[in-house]
Amino acid sequence: MPTEIKPDVQPETPQSRAAVRAATRDAIIKSAPRLHPVIKYPHPTLLRPGEPVTEFTPELAQFVEEMFDSMYAAEGIGLAAPQIDVSKQIAVIDISFHEQPEDKLILINPVVIGRSGKQFEEEGCLSLPEIREKVHRDAWVKVRAQNVKGEFFEVEGTELLARAMLHEIDHLHGILFIDRLSRLKRDLALRRIRKLQKNGDW
Ligand code: CO
Repeated sequence: MPTEIKPDVQPETPQSRAAVRAATRDAIIKSAPRLHPVIKYPHPTLLRPGEPVTEFTPELAQFVEEMFDSMYAAEGIGLAAPQIDVSKQIAVIDISFHEQPEDKLILINPVVIGRSGKQFEEEGCLSLPEIREKVHRDAWVKVRAQNVKGEFFEVEGTELLARAMLHEIDHLHGILFIDRLSRLKRDLALRRIRKLQKNGDW
């Protein structure tokens, strides 16, 4: 009989990941000074472009931290300011959901300056709860944006990071992921939303 090798760390299961996320969410909800509720489709702020940010004040930096807290509280990995009814070109992303500090990404006035390849993966959105569909996106993107001090920087991403950046940048232009579906899939999603609204589940 071969000797069984026991790993030091238990393999991560979807259940354990969900539990870790829920614990993080609860801790943030308890400690965050200010949380902003996420608005849902078809709130008009979601459907119009955000204003560019022109003033880089301490209040902006504070607001960005509130955006991260609000995103974690809603168990999201990305949040755009229009989703909390602030029509400005600000998005926050953390694809590791609070596990790796270096993954925290702030995109102010972001612009896609490079793109290549294709991917087709499932997306969801805090403003469209329960709707999940596969969306065509670029496989790699390069984004130029400003940080909270107004300094320009560039960031590249593939896979989930590319999807997250493109999804959030879409929000800053009033575009939702259902707008990127085929006519048929989009109509089905809208029908489902109407049903959820009718039942008071939206
Ligand atoms: Co979204």
